[in-house]
Amino acid sequence: MTEKNEQHRPRIVVVGNEKGGSGKSTTTMHLVVSLLKDGYKVGTIDLDARQGTLSRYLENRSRFAENSKDQILLPENRRLYRSEAVNKAVSEEEDKDNLELAMHELWDRDFIVFDTPGSDNYLSRLGHSYADILITPLNDSFLDMDMLAKVEIEEKELKLTPSTYSQMVWEQRQQRAILKKRPIDWVVMRNRLSHIDAKNKRDIGVLLEHLSKRLQFRLTPGFGERVIFRELFPKGLTLLDLDSPGAGISMSMSHVAARQEVRALLNAIGLTKKNAAT
Ligand SMILES: Nc1ncnc2c1ncn2[C@@H]1O[C@H](COP(=O)(O)OP(=O)(O)O)[C@@H](O)[C@H]1O
Ligand SMILES: [Mg+2]
Repeated sequence: MTEKNEQHRPRIVVVGNEKGGSGKSTTTMHLVVSLLKDGYKVGTIDLDARQGTLSRYLENRSRFAENSKDQILLPENRRLYRSEAVNKAVSEEEDKDNLELAMHELWDRDFIVFDTPGSDNYLSRLGHSYADILITPLNDSFLDMDMLAKVEIEEKELKLTPSTYSQMVWEQRQQRAILKKRPIDWVVMRNRLSHIDAKNKRDIGVLLEHLSKRLQFRLTPGFGERVIFRELFPKGLTLLDLDSPGAGISMSMSHVAARQEVRALLNAIGLTKKNAAT
């Protein structure tokens, strides 16, 4: 590392929860492209290498960039497979070395963004331990709430039992406090917000407010339920690339609203433009 790099410290953003299909990879991709477009240097680490959604999304993006006249920004990505060593201590050591090497290689970036799998494993937990910002996308349904806590009503009182994931985040926070590191800023993002079921949406909102106080996370609205995400993946594009002439998707009012959701998310997290006045 150069002398400059030793002083420089990238911000580490981890996108995680323990539920598949809640929008982690989609959120990661949108966050990364927003940061790139804002002029930041970004590295990504795919800790869900087996599924590899982020890596495949980025491969599609590279292919699109090669065949396009538009300027398509890309992060530098590392797809990190888990160690296959049978011995637990050996496999954990290998995972740790591989993650540290990947981070070292991306250390000169402004941001390193981790995408994580929808299940618990050592590599994912290790990734979480580096988070300055943890973003947890959550499908906006009562069914997905148990990813954060078990919710029961006993004698008209809400009884909340933190999930294993919330406990894991709690432990990471304790660990960071002991090591006198910056606390994790945990942001839970409501994904796939329905435009029709207003009552359900409100009820979920009330419950999430309770949970946010108890588990100490910030709550932000995320993306509405939109079919366009399916169309974007094979092209490697995001909502922020739609004005690129090669995208071949005509902008609609719904897309404009969708882009505003991405911007609002970044603002809520506190990730504003590099050169914006503070
Ligand atoms: N807001 C949304 N509206 C519609 N589809 C979405 C939305 N967010 C994610 N999806 C879709 O849901 C599926 C799972 O998303 P993904 O980001 O891969 O989740 P995860 O990484 O948590 O498994 C993908 O097909 C994606 O396009
Ligand atoms: Mg994923």
